[in-house]
Amino acid sequence: MILFFAENGQEIKNGFLKSQNKAGTSNIYGEEQMALDKWADEVLINGLKKTRLVRYIATEEQPNIIEIDNPRNQFGVVIDPLDGSSLIDVNLAVGTIIGIYPGTVLDKGENMIAAMYILYGPLTTLTFTTGNGVHDFVMGEKGEFYLTAENIRIPDGKIYAPGALRKDYLPAHSKFIESLENDGYKLRFSGSFVADMHQILHKGGVFTYPGIKGKEKGKLRLLFEANPMGRIIAEAGGAISNGKKDILSILPDAIDNITPVYAGSKKEIGLIERYTQELSV
Ligand code: AHG
Ligand code: MN
Ligand code: MN
Repeated sequence: MILFFAENGQEIKNGFLKSQNKAGTSNIYGEEQMALDKWADEVLINGLKKTRLVRYIATEEQPNIIEIDNPRNQFGVVIDPLDGSSLIDVNLAVGTIIGIYPGTVLDKGENMIAAMYILYGPLTTLTFTTGNGVHDFVMGEKGEFYLTAENIRIPDGKIYAPGALRKDYLPAHSKFIESLENDGYKLRFSGSFVADMHQILHKGGVFTYPGIKGKEKGKLRLLFEANPMGRIIAEAGGAISNGKKDILSILPDAIDNITPVYAGSKKEIGLIERYTQELSV
């Protein structure tokens, strides 16, 4: 299955030449879809349907779970076909995120059997875990992948990637950001969760898209973004939290669940959970 996504990574990379335009439609989150969001979604869904490798497919661009007839396995797959798609028309790095479950996709992130992402930057790279370490590959000229880093562990580092507007911060989050800034953390936020998390995985620090005033549940999708990336960062010795607890322990009740996200080294995740607890008593 990882091979299926690796092969299609090349097709999506080549597809960036097709169109950088808006599709004129919205997804279930009310976000404007890019033509490439819908195209990448179709490529992956149609390809997966043909292989009949899985039973359930849920993607960020689809309103419902797709069920495949006569599947070879009972696996469920969650997909963010293109992450950071608002950056396509300005040629910044975007990605594809995938998580694989033994059965239903409405399952806790900790039960995922594999998680991976493809990052389309100056190089196309693939990062995955099957619960046996986190490994990086780079795509060659013919779409083949070469191992570039094995058993990656998140290092100590002082990078922070904070989403949302400062004027909307809630108290614990404000205190957290202030503490990182006082400690000399350098700001690096691109608008692509995959690109920002890849940097955090290799350089350390923390990515956050918090809950904010009026949007206490944040922006990022539990199934398609938080869980697969969280599974990878946790496997590399880091952690992912909603500010209160481990996101991977949350049982989703619908495919469009959203969540505040803090992902990175255990040190920073411990800090936000401590501030949340202190400020809620
Ligand atoms: P997507 O392109 O799949 O909709 O995801 C965008 C997400 C995530 O990649 C990024 O961290 C965040 O939205 C950026 O949001 P803002 O534009 O609000 O900064
Ligand atoms: Mn996304
Ligand atoms: Mn997307």
